[in-house]
Amino acid sequence: MSAPTSTPRTEPFKAPVGTRDVLPPESARWQALIAAFAGQVGRAGYGLVQSPMFEEIGVFARMGEGTDVVRKEMYDFLDKGERHLALRPEGTASVARAYVQHRPATPWKVWYAAPSFRYERPQAGRYRQHHQLGVEALGSPDPDVDVEVIALLWDFYASLGLRQVELVLNSMGTADDRRGYIDEVRSFLIGRVRDLDPTDAEKVEAHPMRVLDSKRPVTIAAIADVPAITDRLSDEAVAHFDRVKAGLTALGIPFRLEPRLVRGLDYYTHTTFEMVSGALDAAQSTIGGGGRYDGLVESLGGPATPGIGFGSGIERVLLTCDAEGVFDTVPTGVDVYVVDTTGGAAARDLSVELRRAGIAADRAFDGRSMKSQMKSADRSGARVVLIVGSDELDSGSVTVRPLRGEGDQQRVERAAVVASVAALLADPT
Ligand code: HAM
Repeated sequence: MSAPTSTPRTEPFKAPVGTRDVLPPESARWQALIAAFAGQVGRAGYGLVQSPMFEEIGVFARMGEGTDVVRKEMYDFLDKGERHLALRPEGTASVARAYVQHRPATPWKVWYAAPSFRYERPQAGRYRQHHQLGVEALGSPDPDVDVEVIALLWDFYASLGLRQVELVLNSMGTADDRRGYIDEVRSFLIGRVRDLDPTDAEKVEAHPMRVLDSKRPVTIAAIADVPAITDRLSDEAVAHFDRVKAGLTALGIPFRLEPRLVRGLDYYTHTTFEMVSGALDAAQSTIGGGGRYDGLVESLGGPATPGIGFGSGIERVLLTCDAEGVFDTVPTGVDVYVVDTTGGAAARDLSVELRRAGIAADRAFDGRSMKSQMKSADRSGARVVLIVGSDELDSGSVTVRPLRGEGDQQRVERAAVVASVAALLADPT
């Protein structure tokens, strides 16, 4: 790796491939989405967790040595102390590591809104840095926690106005069920290895579940009659899954059972689920996914602790909102715009005084003309413009002009203007 250089470039820099800048006004929508999510999960007792953006790489190995995320997509590096670290590819392993380290009381219910990094082939809805809204609930094996978690995600999408979301549901059974099933799938695939796409055929011995997860048409056709895990569940797993299905039905949450839904990560046991949008291209239509991972905490060196959660990609959720025409750009802007044609000192002081009083205020810079400042005022969304011209300056006053039909313009004494604007905004009549 060569050292960075400051030699001038002919081409301007761009954000790295597979990443994107989120700028206003789009960023206001992000804020609103995260705030809606925080409200929803906060009302269910979930607290915000912030974990580092990078971890020792071993934390993420538990997601499965055979998964693409671990084998091919990890942003790993040696730091200057020769530690092998990786940028977080998802939130669950980091949260489980934090749980093992801090041992909070259970049930430990947390949420996050965090960037995740995967070296994937970028395309619409698939990025190398994406952002997930997620929850994790650790410490309880109760299937009603599964129902709570799924209902949170379902209701969140509904609260945004999304209507074309399908819940796809499966159970991977207990760890023993899963192991037995993996052996069975391996035997099944060995019998059909010639019919599989060559890339999938290589995975049969070591990672047969990854073949079930394949998106390659040749493989999908070859495994159409693979045994279903749901036919092989232990009594314990059946009872758990029945309770989950009954809970969803009681809450009016429709679902489609899909016995081949194994998901792309290896830590899942019992309930697994995905939320798929009918409004997006099939390749990137999964807007959220999750499930139970009852062995993950133990594999990270903690006590046996069950857990369940989900992650939902902010980018994909917003693409879905666009496709369904809901959750429009949230108007941002200010309440008051200060126009000053007397040199800017009045605008400088007034805008700060207004903000100190809790009023959203903006102003123009660079001594621009009255006309140009009034244009900016209009664009700002402000309901009130404060005008300071030479008349006002001489008489120690400010003109207060409601912009959106909220009464007549009036002159107010400079010292009283903030209070007067506050009163006007509170009661425009
Ligand atoms: P995941 O299915 O790998 O699960 O990712 C969750 C969601 O993140 C996906 O449904 C998708 O919306 C979004 N996503 C994933 N990769 C990308 C990408 N490259 N570009 C854009 N969006 C993406 C997990 O990560 C698990 N940690 C979920 C979980 C939480 N399971 C239990 N708890």
